[in-house]
Order: sequence, then C-alpha cells, then structure tokens
Amino acid sequence: MKYVKQIRLIPTTLLCIVTGFIVLQFFNGTVEQKPVTGHMRNVPRQVELILERSCFNCHSNEQQLSFVDKIAPVSWIVNKDIKRAREVMNFSEWDKLSDAEQKGKFYAIYNMINVGKMPLPSYALTHPGSKLSPVDVATIKQYALSLSAKDSFIPAHHGPEQVKETSPTNTPVSPNGIRYNADFKNWKVIGMSTLIDNTVRVIYGNDIAVRAIEEESFHPWPDGSAVAKAVFKQTRKPNGDIVPGDFVNMQYMVKDGKTYTDTEGWGFAKFNGQELKPTGKTALFAQQSCISCHRQLAEPTGYLFNVPPKVNSKKLIEHYLKTVTK
Ligand code: HEC
Ligand code: HEC
Repeated sequence: MKYVKQIRLIPTTLLCIVTGFIVLQFFNGTVEQKPVTGHMRNVPRQVELILERSCFNCHSNEQQLSFVDKIAPVSWIVNKDIKRAREVMNFSEWDKLSDAEQKGKFYAIYNMINVGKMPLPSYALTHPGSKLSPVDVATIKQYALSLSAKDSFIPAHHGPEQVKETSPTNTPVSPNGIRYNADFKNWKVIGMSTLIDNTVRVIYGNDIAVRAIEEESFHPWPDGSAVAKAVFKQTRKPNGDIVPGDFVNMQYMVKDGKTYTDTEGWGFAKFNGQELKPTGKTALFAQQSCISCHRQLAEPTGYLFNVPPKVNSKKLIEHYLKTVTK
C-alpha cells in the first residue's frame, strides 16, 4: 500500500520539478549586449586564436554561449562571471588601454594561465574545449616575454632620491582616498622582486605588518598593516651589476577590513612616474584591476605576495655555528 502511494507521487514530483524549472526561466536574465570598440592589434594570430577560444566567452563582448550556459540557474553564474571578467579585462575594448596597460595585461594573462587560474577551473570543467595545452601556455609566455624584451636597459636619469618630495598640502591622493606616504622610507624592507620585465621592486612593510610576519599572524592581516612597493627600471652598470634605475611607480596596500570590504579588506593605491600621478579615475579601480590578481594568486598569504618566511634568526645562527664547528 505504502509502495503504491510512493509510485503515485512520482509524476507529481516530476511535474513540480519541471514547473519549477520553467518558472526559473522567467528570472533568466541575458548577458548585457555591448559593442566591440577595438580588438587587439599587432598580436600574433596564434595568440589571438588561443584567447578567442578559451577566454572570449567571459572577457569580451562577443560571447558564443552554449544552450546550457543560457538556461537558469547556470546562466546566473555565467552572467555574473562575465560581468566581473569584463570589468577587469575586455578583449573587445582593448583600444581603451594604453600601450603600457596592454603590456601589463599580458603579464597578468601569462601569470594567470601559468598557475592554471584561467580560464576559471569551474568553467574549464564544463567547457573542455577551453582548456589550455602546454603548447598554448608556452605560446603566450613567449609573446608576453617578447614584450618586455623590447625595453632595453636604460641608464638612470633620475635616481629614487630625486622623486619629487611632496608637502602635506599637495600630496597626491588615490581616488579611494589613500595618500602617497613618503614615510615608507622608514619602514623595513620585506622583499625584493621582479616580474621579468626589466624592473626591480623593493617592498617595505610598516611596523604592524612586520610584527604580523614575525608572529606569523596574518590570517587575516591586522588592520593598520601597510606595505609599499617601489618599482624601478633595472640599470646595468659598466661592471655588469644590476641596480635600481629610473623610478617607475609607487604602490601601496593598506589593511582596513571595515573600509575596503570589496577588496578583501585591502585598500590599494598606485602613483606613477616622477609626478606620482594616481592610478584610477574612480575608487572602483582597485576592484577592476588590483584585487583580481592578488585574490587569485596570493590567497594563501592573505592576498600579499611578498611574505618572507618566518625565520628564527637566533636559532638559525646557533644551528649554523653547530654545523660548521663539527
Ligand atoms: C568563466 C569566465 C572566465 C573565463 C572563461 C576566463 N576568465 Fe579570466 N577572469 C574571470 C573573472 C570572473 C575574473 C575576475 C576574478 C576576480 O576578481 O577574482 C577574471 C580575471 C582575469 C584576469 C585578471 C585581470 C586583471 O588585470 O586583473 C586575467 C589576466 C584573466 N582573467 C585572464 C584570462 C585568460 C587569459 C583566460 C583564457 C585563457 C580567461 N581569463 C578566461 C572569468 C573568466
Ligand atoms: C597582473 C597581476 C597583478 C595586478 C593586476 C596587480 N598586482 Fe600587485 N602584485 C602582483 C605580483 C605578482 C606581486 C608580487 C611581485 C612584485 O612584488 O611585483 C605584486 C605585489 C604587489 C605589492 C607588494 C606587496 C605584495 O603583495 O607582495 C603591492 C603593494 C601591490 N602589488 C599593489 C598593487 C596595486 C596597487 C595594484 C593595482 C593598481 C596591483 N598591485 C595590481 C600582481 C598584480
């Protein structure tokens, strides 16, 4: 008797599911249609083909979505990804970027695909055709590196000390309110780096950040932590030594979990060239550019790349002395 009841329930349940599914479709928004203003130019065709195949469905205004991508609830996720992806990088509006920005995007592209973060793994799983082969990655790497090879080593004209010192009244301010802060010169160096783009980067941390590193308590980083990064061109001295040359830009990350809720609690700011011209037209710039790389690639260390490993220098030295005196 109970068994018969259950069988009778099956058509009703099915009907409910089908009706529910149809109702969902009334809430099925479509991707906003936007015009193509300008494609990439002077990019090798094989590079373009890879990007078109694997990335254009999100990072362009030229979607070729499958039937499944267009039905709710899948379409909700797809549309949200497309909206975010277009915000950070749009291959159909490539002409809106300066030459330097276009080059920067290719570093970002190489970085993301090299660690398998793009195309988004969830998307690659359901769209096997979008997966990149090792040859695809190598092709993009070669192109990204060829862009940096074009910057030759230039002799320094302006050393870092000549960067315009600013008085409190005319300190440059980022659109999100973060001020250029010359005090970084009194902070500790926590790292040096390069992005194989012929730059040298010196990273400084304020007291709060340095303490967090020493105590390994940066999950999350305490409010008030601040890091600064000074980027210089590499200069080759006659004896072959590489030293920091022309100043390129100054970048900051300032932790305030309550204020910077859209960017994982970090406020970003960037000041370019001798004039220290702030990056970004509105406060949205950090959401549209800075955070996505830091979020995707540096999540395990609280969104900060340059975190020196914690070393107990006293113990390390004692241990070293023991091994050499043996
Ligand atoms: C399913 C949609 C989707 C696909 C396909 C996709 N991306 Fe993304 N991509 C995103 C989203 C969403 C973000 C923003 C991530 C964030 O903010 O955390 C992003 C961010 C990026 C960024 C950071 C841009 C910046 O300047 O901050 C790069 C670079 C990138 N993607 C490259 C690629 C490349 C290259 C491909 C193709 C191989 C690709 N993506 C395919 C959705 C996608
Ligand atoms: C292409 C991906 C990418 C984007 C976009 C990006 N960053 Fe970074 N950022 C990195 C990488 C990689 C490092 C580590 C290497 C280095 O120090 O240059 C880094 C390091 C930093 C550091 C030093 C602290 C740390 O995390 O190690 C600061 C400060 C910083 N970025 C600020 C910014 C600001 C401000 C923006 C937006 C204007 C931005 N970043 C956009 C990739 C990115």
